[in-house]
Amino acid sequence: MKSSNVKELLSMAPKLQEVTVNGWVRTFRSNRFIALNDGSTINNIQCVVDFEKLEDGVLKKINTGSALKISGTLVESQGRGQNVEIQVSNIFVHGDADPETYPIQPKKHSLEFLREKAHLRIRTNTFSAVMRVRSALAFAIHQYFRQNDFHYFHAPIITGSDAEGAGEMFKVTTLDSKNPPLNEEGEVNYKEDFFGKETNLTVSGQLEAETYAMALGKVYTFGPTFRAENSNTSRHLAEFWMIEPEMAFYDLDANMDLAEDFIKYVINYVLENCNDDLQFLEKRLLDEEKSKPQAERSEMALIEKLKFICENNFKRVSYTEAIDILRNCKPNKKKKFQYTIDEWGADLQSEHERYLVEKHFKCPVILFDYPANIKAFYMRLNEDGKTVRAMDILFPGIGEIVGGSQREERLDVLKDKIAALGIDEKELWWYLDLRKFGSAVHSGFGLGFERLVLFATGMGNIRDVIPFPRTPQNAEF
Ligand code: 4AD
Ligand code: MG
Repeated sequence: MKSSNVKELLSMAPKLQEVTVNGWVRTFRSNRFIALNDGSTINNIQCVVDFEKLEDGVLKKINTGSALKISGTLVESQGRGQNVEIQVSNIFVHGDADPETYPIQPKKHSLEFLREKAHLRIRTNTFSAVMRVRSALAFAIHQYFRQNDFHYFHAPIITGSDAEGAGEMFKVTTLDSKNPPLNEEGEVNYKEDFFGKETNLTVSGQLEAETYAMALGKVYTFGPTFRAENSNTSRHLAEFWMIEPEMAFYDLDANMDLAEDFIKYVINYVLENCNDDLQFLEKRLLDEEKSKPQAERSEMALIEKLKFICENNFKRVSYTEAIDILRNCKPNKKKKFQYTIDEWGADLQSEHERYLVEKHFKCPVILFDYPANIKAFYMRLNEDGKTVRAMDILFPGIGEIVGGSQREERLDVLKDKIAALGIDEKELWWYLDLRKFGSAVHSGFGLGFERLVLFATGMGNIRDVIPFPRTPQNAEF
């Protein structure tokens, strides 16, 4: 008989039909009730067994974590919170799980404990809910771009350039690190390396995406990017996924419109398609917050928070206006900002971003027109000569979720900028070619996928929204 998944079974009417289902035991109570889960949904199907009819040896193999094939009759359930259950006629044990050594027991495990068990944590309700939402978001992202006539562009992972100019790159080399070949100047001779030059894992697919936007019009990348920044925070990973649309003939305003519309679309998608998982995550969060003082609890429950994003405009504010707000505010009578913003031109710290979003505007904020000297070389210089057409989107509880800009399309201005920053023009010859041949206004942005998943699931640490997090001193799995 064809087997069904739990999600299908739970939506069927109990017409006493024979069914078969495969899955893992979540709990086994009173030698009678198996809660079986197969990952298709957060919900388990209850399977009722008559243990006296079970084959010898099967009973003691039914433990939390065992993989079973269960056949029986789908009947109406008397239990609360479920319409159907299976009256079991046969159980096949694919593989058992020793209760003495299986780490994922039916009790609350801390997220820290589960990080040490990254290969098994997906078997918990929390992680399966998070990763289903992650998967749905990825699907929604492709769907949004497809519906809006974007082409999916695959940026290279190994690159010879530093897209952000921030020097936070992982080197890719086949040279012997202890005994590398040296050139006449006594420096490492990368000419002898695999690619004949220094290479690294990409920090962003933007520069390559620009080349495609200048022919295909609207493109996006969605893939892993790498940063060797040593920030051990709940918002940073060394390997994270980034979505980077790049559009010819878009100025910064059109770029901001797209970013806002895109974020609302994908959040709305999970609201419409991940209700069970979101309900579970919302309840989990409420339980967690009970132990916090009232002032630290969030004002909105998860689903309400996601709806708020979809239904309200993001506030657009220039960097200069934001600095004025921060200079004149009293964030908290007792506790001042750790870093005060005295000077125009300083970069905002996350506490400033959070103040603007969570206390001042109380909604997502798009900050634009940043000082040129704190942003990357490729951003378009404004007529004032000191700000660039950059935009960051700041989200409540997250901080920066998007970084983007209108790109500098004028060859002479871009060359001056590159020279001023001491970047070797020869490294970017192909990028400069785009400004020589059919150059045009264009824009794009990068959305940190894990920061989006953090927001959509209400989780607190970025390590818990990617299957195998890569952070400093941590690449166990
Ligand atoms: O602001 P960033 O550095 O912008 C770029 O890389 C541009 N080239 C994007 C573009 O215009 N195409 O990074 C973009 C976003 C950030 O806003 C943040 O959400 C995320 O990527 N991000 C990280 N996420 C997790 N861990 C890290 N270490 C991250 N660094 C950036
Ligand atoms: Mg940024």
